[in-house]
Amino acid sequence: MSARPVFLFNSTPERATVFRKAFERELPAVGFADDPTTVDPDDVRYFITWEMPERLGRFRHLKVVFSIGAGVDQFAAASLAPEVSVVRMVEDGIIRMMQEYVTLAVLALHRDWSAYAGQQAAEVWRALPARQANDRRVGFLGFGMLAQAAMERLAPFGFPLAGWSRSPRSIEGVQCFQGADQLPEFLAQTDILVCLLPLTAETRGFLDAPLFARLPKGAALVHAGRGAQLNAAALLASLECGHLSAAILDVTDPEPLPRGDPLWRNPKVMVTPHVAGVTQPRTAARAVIENIRRFEAGQPMIGLVDRARGY
Ligand code: NDP
Ligand code: OXD
Repeated sequence: MSARPVFLFNSTPERATVFRKAFERELPAVGFADDPTTVDPDDVRYFITWEMPERLGRFRHLKVVFSIGAGVDQFAAASLAPEVSVVRMVEDGIIRMMQEYVTLAVLALHRDWSAYAGQQAAEVWRALPARQANDRRVGFLGFGMLAQAAMERLAPFGFPLAGWSRSPRSIEGVQCFQGADQLPEFLAQTDILVCLLPLTAETRGFLDAPLFARLPKGAALVHAGRGAQLNAAALLASLECGHLSAAILDVTDPEPLPRGDPLWRNPKVMVTPHVAGVTQPRTAARAVIENIRRFEAGQPMIGLVDRARGY
């Protein structure tokens, strides 16, 4: 039996190749394995995965489970021993891609892109009234790492920015709201709502009819959090009655969105297949190696999840 701790990898072969090389180069003291049958379960200290496999309990000396993505809601039901740390993915690739996606979506909504797509299909040449960016208020539900990164990109356009979080935040140039008490005020002054909340018991089904009703008439939604946060029927009803004007959805419930689902064909809805922020193996391997170094040095890991809070 080897005494060398093992990092067990459970994701795509393409990512495994990049991670293996990075571990061999940067962290030779930790063995890399992507096939659990090749290692002694007692040597496995670190595990990276998207979904939690069954029989995790056989890794009796497991210390840290890393999510291959930024979200950790998929681990919620897992029976992980209380002493196992859970770490979400904090890496530059996801952040940059989310910045691009949110900027693109906000600008598309701001400049009525889906209305022009409809006009093109009908061969209509008509300019729609154009609002200025400083008159289009963009509000983020969830005011964490990704929301703040997206705000950095949006700020130069001049959009008035706001964020809503659970605990108090103070960010220069951004109107900060927190908690249930301040949610109505936040929503009432949001023209484009961007959801970047983690999925927890509190946020499941959060984007529902009462919430949409609190947004100003004509408001639009960008949803890049998790599909289960959205009541899709309520969204469609709000679009149908003209209260909301448009929605861009990167996440749905279920995924993939089934063929024939009314979201696919609604002209006011644009759906992308959960691609807003995708883990990039080179930068992700660097982030995980840095966290293992921190863990072994007794320092706090970046992206450590509060398991009781769920994110
Ligand atoms: P963070 O943990 O950095 O931020 C989460 C934010 O949500 C925090 O501001 C937190 O408040 C707030 N929040 C959580 N629960 C509540 C609540 N009940 N009420 C009010 N605010 C709440 O997460 P990230 O920014 O890194 O990621 C957010 C989510 O984005 C991920 O969990 C994932 O689901 C999704 N995601 C989607 C991707 C995609 O491709 N579509 C890619 C990557 C992530 P507080 O600041 O007070 O803690
Ligand atoms: C993530 C995601 O959590 O892709 O990283 O949704």
